[in-house]
Amino acid sequence: MFGTAAVVALFSALSVRDTSIMQYALNLEHIELAFYNQGLEKYDAQAFADAGYEAWVRGRFVQIRDHEVAHVTFLTEQLGCDAPVVCNYTYPYTDLQSWVSLSQTLEHVGAAAYMGASRFVDDKDVLAASVSISHIEARQAGWVNSAVMKQEPWDGDFETPLYFSGAWSLAVGFIESCPESNPALPVDSFPALNVSNSAPPMGSNITVSYAGQGNITTPTYMAWYHDMNTTFTSIDEHGVTTVPDYLRGTVFAGVVRNETETTNDSTMLSGLTIFKFPFSSYAIVGA
Ligand SMILES: *[C@@H]1O[C@H](CO)[C@@H](O)[C@H](O)[C@H]1NC(C)=O
Ligand SMILES: *[C@@H]1O[C@H](CO)[C@@H](O)[C@H](O)[C@H]1NC(C)=O
Ligand SMILES: *[C@@H]1O[C@H](CO)[C@@H](O)[C@H](O)[C@H]1NC(C)=O
Ligand SMILES: *[C@@H]1O[C@H](CO)[C@@H](O)[C@H](O)[C@H]1NC(C)=O
Ligand SMILES: *[C@@H]1O[C@H](CO)[C@@H](O)[C@H](O)[C@H]1NC(C)=O
Ligand SMILES: *[C@@H]1O[C@H](CO)[C@@H](O)[C@H](O)[C@H]1NC(C)=O
Ligand SMILES: *[C@@H]1O[C@H](CO)[C@@H](O)[C@H](O)[C@H]1NC(C)=O
Repeated sequence: MFGTAAVVALFSALSVRDTSIMQYALNLEHIELAFYNQGLEKYDAQAFADAGYEAWVRGRFVQIRDHEVAHVTFLTEQLGCDAPVVCNYTYPYTDLQSWVSLSQTLEHVGAAAYMGASRFVDDKDVLAASVSISHIEARQAGWVNSAVMKQEPWDGDFETPLYFSGAWSLAVGFIESCPESNPALPVDSFPALNVSNSAPPMGSNITVSYAGQGNITTPTYMAWYHDMNTTFTSIDEHGVTTVPDYLRGTVFAGVVRNETETTNDSTMLSGLTIFKFPFSSYAIVGA
């Protein structure tokens, strides 16, 4: 897709901010690629068959891994000597099923991260590349969730962007250690969010907690990122907040100090978490 000429042109055009954004993207791609390499090494065709997956499923995951190789190569070439190198990673899957589910999460967060970053990109060629990669990651997330996991292929009429620190908070837990020479990223670190129910019914109350919560004396809110929309619910003095009753599919959420800011992560108080609200096809079978 990008010939040698485009690579050279893009590279010479990178602003400081675009360099930083591409370093952030490459870090996320490294996390994905290492995840697929590790899983595909661990789970052979027989393991997929034993777990009840049809034979073509593993082949598609190999294709996804090859896409990640291409993304890593592309970004590494663009960044040249500014490219961050591979870190050591740890992934919380325990069997093939949870590996598949984690793959869906990684693809979804990857797509959302590219989408959120696009707002801050200076160069149109970098933007075009970012949109292109975002699309393929969203397709991959949709394929895993629907074809493999038999759930909804999309979440609504708009995709949800995640900004730098929010997306990073969902990925940073996979990193064990990085070489100190890797460049600093355009992210702030936030304490992990603990929720009393990781699969709450809509409209129910949940309790949220995070390190430093007791020190915050101003009102705080749970920001629910869905579609191109953010819904805020207030958090009471006991950490209780009410899950909105109209969420669908994958929704990202975290604690913020401002119920109006929706276009960047400047008001975050905690890292994000992911909630899933699966929904069926509306089509009536046989209609
Ligand atoms: C990765 O882990 C290995 C083994 O623990 C260690 O030797 C190496 O320095 C680590 N690499 C990075 C990039 O942290
Ligand atoms: C998470 O919150 C629950 C209650 O909401 C609490 O019981 C648990 O100890 C908390 N876990 C951590 C790691 O903070
Ligand atoms: C949730 O908590 C609020 C008070 O914070 C209460 O008014 C409401 O009834 C609770 N809802 C449920 C479903 O428990
Ligand atoms: C709360 O604030 C105090 C004073 O600034 C600080 O020493 C403490 O570490 C903070 N606690 C947490 C959990 O952040
Ligand atoms: C965001 O969601 C709320 C609640 O459903 C709705 O009232 C509002 O119109 C939505 N805004 C946009 C821009 O979609
Ligand atoms: C919330 O953020 C908006 C936009 O950044 C800002 O205009 C507003 O003053 C902030 N409100 C509070 C209470 O900080
Ligand atoms: C976040 O957005 C607000 C306006 O909505 C803006 O004032 C502020 O500078 C932005 N912060 C960052 C870090 O981009």
